[in-house]
Amino acid sequence: KFETPYVFVVFGASGDLAKKKIYPTLWWLFRDNLLPANIKFVGYARSDLTVPKLRDSFEKYCKVRDGENEKFVKFLEHCSYVQGKYDTSDGFQKLKQYIDAFQTESNNQPVNRLYYLALPPAVFNVVSTELKQNCMDNGDSWTRVIIEKPFGHDLKSSCELSNHLAKLFKEDQIYRIDHYLGKEMVQNLMVMRFGNRILAPSWNRDHIASVMISFKEDFGTGGRAGYFDTAGIIRDVMQNHLMQILTLVAMEKPASLNAEDIRDEKVKVLKATKIVELKDVVVGQYISNAECSHPEASQGYKDDPAVPADSVTPTYALAVLHINNERWEGVPFFLRCGKALNEKKAEVRIQFKEVSGDIYPSGELKRSELVMRVQPNEAVYMKLMTKKPGMGFGVEETELDLTYNNRYKEVRLPDAYERLFLEVFMGSQINFVRTDELEYAWRILTPVLEELENKKVKPVEYKFGSRGPVEGDELMKKYGFVFTGTYKWVAPNKL
Ligand code: BG6
Repeated sequence: KFETPYVFVVFGASGDLAKKKIYPTLWWLFRDNLLPANIKFVGYARSDLTVPKLRDSFEKYCKVRDGENEKFVKFLEHCSYVQGKYDTSDGFQKLKQYIDAFQTESNNQPVNRLYYLALPPAVFNVVSTELKQNCMDNGDSWTRVIIEKPFGHDLKSSCELSNHLAKLFKEDQIYRIDHYLGKEMVQNLMVMRFGNRILAPSWNRDHIASVMISFKEDFGTGGRAGYFDTAGIIRDVMQNHLMQILTLVAMEKPASLNAEDIRDEKVKVLKATKIVELKDVVVGQYISNAECSHPEASQGYKDDPAVPADSVTPTYALAVLHINNERWEGVPFFLRCGKALNEKKAEVRIQFKEVSGDIYPSGELKRSELVMRVQPNEAVYMKLMTKKPGMGFGVEETELDLTYNNRYKEVRLPDAYERLFLEVFMGSQINFVRTDELEYAWRILTPVLEELENKKVKPVEYKFGSRGPVEGDELMKKYGFVFTGTYKWVAPNKL
């Protein structure tokens, strides 16, 4: 035991996130030998649990394969559990003793600490305060705190939470997770933009007509409607995941790959983004659809007993954002997200302007598009015009395609959480949300959220499994998005 000791403490170990995401991710990293050897995974919660009970809760999400059982048992040997309350010090004292004992066992080397607060907002403040009082390092090792959304409910509550955290921890100790930042294609955005001379000159208002950042799910709110109804799709997905993607698409080239340089540029984009107005938003809510074969489709959003009968919570939203800077003035950014739609996909679509001085018969040339398909079927493809192959001179739409399943057949793309956990171990904050980023993102959306709620704006109903409200398409069209429907990309491995 001469190796540096680490603890990874999961607060809220009995919860949904812990069993579905945190423990399985720790297991995959452990299985692949990516974690330090001298590590303890400590669960912390109020319930009377044991490691075998914890195992029962998370094992099925770990997808342990044949031949991995022995390793899984090893993983469990690194797990332990501390039972404790959230609002009194005794549990935190117990945790401290546990960590102290681990230090003694580890040849008295100071223990590095990762605290994952997978907790409901109600106990967040008290747990972070107790942690600070009882469980910090002494300055000869490090402490990092990982937190999950919701980061507040609006600008005010988010700033309160940030101020609270700032009193306890330094910015470089706070790791706010937005798991979209851990996705391969989201991480690829910077390389695409800043690693290819061919793209940089056209990445601006002179050539780009619009940018669409789209997130669609083909299932409803499932068992999460209770939570979802207090949030809505704008807080659940747009304010975080889509805004983060927007900053990566729109930011200037950072001075270096250093986390602060990158985050400075992201913040600048958010500062230049205008506050969203209600006229630039369409909200929708799904209703049941007898014709859709999806097993959940017979239940509309409001048929869920956890949702109040008069709920106006949106399950779909389209917002048009405007960035007031030299690069982007006049280019609409469409952020579109929705549940219970016709497909599951997330993508960024850059639509270029028409060519000038068109010499082809009217209507034949369609706009080029660069698409980064975030999921499923990770791909980058460029939709463009080509000569119709063979005799004749006609033109047709086609694509230059980089589909990962095709080009990188042997590569396993790690889950977003795996990547992000490792980055916390390494102390890299590039893919974590800085306090000011969060504040500026809330600034853009809070007024419209309040207006929607105060005026009880009724969302447009759309059928489960449909494309969502036509009003969404109409608003995009109004802002110049051109959808011809003449071309559909099919992943080559699906052809
Ligand atoms: C979460 C949202 O942050 O992201 C969920 O709360 C959503 O509503 C999920 O389903 C989508 O994540 P992924 O990785 O499955 O695209």
